[in-house]
Amino acid sequence: MNLNKIQTPFNFLLFGASGDLAQLKLFPALYHLALQKRLPKHYAIIGYSRSAFESETFSRHVEESIRKHVEKELIDETVLTDFLQHLHYQQGSYDHEKDYERLSEKIVSCHAGEKVYNLAFLATPSSTFESIAKGLNHIRQKLGCDIELMLEKPFGHDRKSAGELFHSITNHFDKKNLYLIDHYLGKPPVKSIFPLRYNNAILNLMLQGQSISNIQISALETLGTEDRAGYFDRVGIIKDMIQSHLLQVLALFTMSMPLRREVKSIRREKGDVLSALRYPKDECGVVLGQYESYTREKEVEKDSKTPTFAALRCFIDLTQWYKVPIYIRSGKKLSHKHTYVVVEFKKPPYAPKEIQPNRLIIELYPEERIQIQLINEMGERITQSYAENSLACVGDECLPDYACLILDAFLRRYESFLSIDEILASWYFVDSIHKCLDQQQIPLVIYKDGTDGPEAQHELTKMDGVEWYEVEG
Ligand code: BG6
Repeated sequence: MNLNKIQTPFNFLLFGASGDLAQLKLFPALYHLALQKRLPKHYAIIGYSRSAFESETFSRHVEESIRKHVEKELIDETVLTDFLQHLHYQQGSYDHEKDYERLSEKIVSCHAGEKVYNLAFLATPSSTFESIAKGLNHIRQKLGCDIELMLEKPFGHDRKSAGELFHSITNHFDKKNLYLIDHYLGKPPVKSIFPLRYNNAILNLMLQGQSISNIQISALETLGTEDRAGYFDRVGIIKDMIQSHLLQVLALFTMSMPLRREVKSIRREKGDVLSALRYPKDECGVVLGQYESYTREKEVEKDSKTPTFAALRCFIDLTQWYKVPIYIRSGKKLSHKHTYVVVEFKKPPYAPKEIQPNRLIIELYPEERIQIQLINEMGERITQSYAENSLACVGDECLPDYACLILDAFLRRYESFLSIDEILASWYFVDSIHKCLDQQQIPLVIYKDGTDGPEAQHELTKMDGVEWYEVEG
């Protein structure tokens, strides 16, 4: 099989090279691309951050990250040794012109005389994006080269800041040179939702509001905030997980199918659904929780009211989704890690109460699969028939989510990235919830570590006579 490869020589400029994201995800992602021979002969990975690293220590740092976060059986010593030869490092601040001068010299020294493609990944807080964009613009003008930017989420901290940030970056870069990331869009089951709907009228006909009783999205995690407690304490679970990841999944399920599979149309339809989201005004439709040990973590305020669990009940103000409740929940330090979407269909009008609804389920973790549950009767017994298929990638060409996104950016597959309109629409919804929470003083329920989160999450679904469907993991 012919795998998609990056054909042009490139420089991958990694801002935040000493940080967690680089260590956990980005170095392993780049190694995976090398392992699958998707990288050209000539390329340079130039790490950039404020930390002081000698070239050798940086190389060791990257090697450790790869050995720690890539499965043992995928470590190919020859590939790894070659990969490490392509690494370079430049220490610098994010806002001093002279540091960008040095970076530009480094770029030239890595690929003298060649026509290269430059992609910069900003694995840094969004407060640094503007300075980095300005510095890179300076380099671009000085070297007369093109540079494209990949920007990690969260993009801003509310609608206003996201709009301003976009404006300030587009002072230096055209928006077609920006790849706004949500790593959920690099996950195989999430990547499958659009093509499954687009190519299969049968599935698409099922996903019409008139036949749906409710939609549930759950992202349950066992980990706490780990080394990112300082960041997390400022944002909380709604901004961290729901604002982009889970709303993107919801948009893919509920968007109208465009006639053509074109990026512009897909983004427009996703944006339309996201801008039509609303929460029920009277009670904000939110349950908030915090795990018991949270305020004992380093970098967390002792009296922090930051939620580590949230469950929402919301609606889409579009005719086709009229009165279809949507429940979204996400939490940390819960009893198990499980991520899935459940669509429950309406039962026949006179069905007995105990009959389960038909369901469409897409699991993202730990399984990656689609399942359809149909109620049947066998003799005198009511049974459920299951149709199930894996959505996991199999074979040598599978890539982890960040590797997929880096490859997609190099190959300019814009479908895998967000538009600013989608981001602004999501923030608008999240801002309106926070405004409601500020006014209504919703209680923060403390839940024990390793449990299933606040009991009150069940009150939300009960309002519509529905229960959370717990997919067996
Ligand atoms: C990140 C959040 O974007 O996604 C983390 O900042 C969260 O808090 C993570 O743990 C979840 O990603 P995944 O791929 O494990 O579902």
